[in-house]
Amino acid sequence: MRILVTGGTGYIGSHTVLTLLEAGHDVVVVDNLSNSSEEALRRVGELAGREAAFVRADITDEAALDAAFAEHAPEAVIHFAGLKAVGESVTIPLDYYFNNVAGTIALLRTMERHAVRTIVFSSSATVYGEHNPTPYVEKMEIGAMNPYGRTKEQIEDILTDLGASDPAWRIALLRYFNPVGAHPSGRIGEDPQGIPNNLVPFIAQVAVGRREKLMVFGGDYDTPDGTCLRDYIHVMDLAEGHAAALHYLQGHDGVHRWNLGSGHGTSVLQMHAAFEKAVGSPIPYEIAPRRAGDLPAFWADPSAALADLGWSTTRTVEAMCEDHWRWQKNNPMGYALSLEAGEEPQARPSMSPHPAPYRIDVTAGDPPSLEQALNRAVEAAIAQALMEGTRGVLVTRRSPCTYTVELSRIVPFGTTLERDESVQGR
Ligand code: NAD
Ligand code: WQD
Repeated sequence: MRILVTGGTGYIGSHTVLTLLEAGHDVVVVDNLSNSSEEALRRVGELAGREAAFVRADITDEAALDAAFAEHAPEAVIHFAGLKAVGESVTIPLDYYFNNVAGTIALLRTMERHAVRTIVFSSSATVYGEHNPTPYVEKMEIGAMNPYGRTKEQIEDILTDLGASDPAWRIALLRYFNPVGAHPSGRIGEDPQGIPNNLVPFIAQVAVGRREKLMVFGGDYDTPDGTCLRDYIHVMDLAEGHAAALHYLQGHDGVHRWNLGSGHGTSVLQMHAAFEKAVGSPIPYEIAPRRAGDLPAFWADPSAALADLGWSTTRTVEAMCEDHWRWQKNNPMGYALSLEAGEEPQARPSMSPHPAPYRIDVTAGDPPSLEQALNRAVEAAIAQALMEGTRGVLVTRRSPCTYTVELSRIVPFGTTLERDESVQGR
């Protein structure tokens, strides 16, 4: 089948494109690269042994979409493209409504013009809001709590109305729970820009030395260990869920909703412990105040997806952490620069016209873990320095157990390589 995938260079999109290529489908990706890198698609091609076509375009641009549909003649669409940061959506709601809702309308209008009426849409567990008891079931009344969630809810409404207007439409609304992990090769994975909003990418950046410690948002919830419970799902299970939904739509018209989750809750501290096990060394954390808007606990009732699609999750929390860690360890700076075993760091053109100040404070209790943490921080800083074209990395000993690692425009780059001296000396 020929499938057009919007947002296919992003985190979930790239893993799904790989799954589709491996299943023998032809894929064209449409993405504006606002939150992703074309490198992801290059690696997907490497892993699959065949390429997906790529069109750099914005989904709000109907002329560009028309050209992509005319050239590639897709038979179905999987629609990932969208902005997804809850906090940001509160600050710039119009951008979220325009990009996500208006973008989806432009996509659907284009699909109509080209008589393509099969679509799988990335919805979210966030549409269940705060009033529903857990586990969440598809038939529950939805009601999101923030602009991002409301874009998902509104798109679900639009697609439901569209399905009711014409039986030729075949629509799957997939409500994802908490996607984590990476392809087991460690070649593709999640590459958040700036400070990660989500738990596992944050833990992974602490583990690789890019952040000092994890802040656990709230330790006094009414849950077994006091921290929030979420339904984490391996991104490869999620990718396979899309292939299963698309297959189902071949034989069924109308609008269908499925939860894609495991059906189990895992706490923040359990996730942290599982990640420490995958890394094999301690990951610093601290219990911090609750984060506004967090619900104490929710997970999916995934029985409808099993009954209709024959799909359920097969990968464990341990596998999620091992795979996520392999990706992060091999690519400490994501797609911008990869430091793989035996591979020499290479300078790339500056990614950011205004590089952010870069500084990590490394603190650890005992010498082996301090040295490990410091080495990881220095490696990450070197990678960042190369990427941004700064001259070097400065390591300063603040106290016996605290060092600061920061980018320096004064210290020549070679100086940073004396990091062992810095660790033991000054
Ligand atoms: P992502 O940011 O990695 O991928 C989204 C992709 O869409 C990016 O490649 C981005 O460049 C592209 N994009 C955004 N706006 C676009 C536009 N106007 N035109 C063309 N391309 C555009 O995010 P992800 O985690 O892979 O999420 C994919 C989808 O799944 C999103 O719709 C998201 O809301 C939804 N979702 C994600 C999660 C999660 O926790 N990751 C959970 C539930 C639902
Ligand atoms: C999980 C748990 C945090 C970071 C969000 C969106 C949702 C969906 C998935 C798109 C919570 C805790 C987190 C940290 C922490 N996305 N945490 N320290 O909030 O369940 O869902 O992503 O649709 O819409 O809201 O996921 O990963 O942010 O948080 O303690 O640094 O980890 O408080 O309990 P969440 P998350």
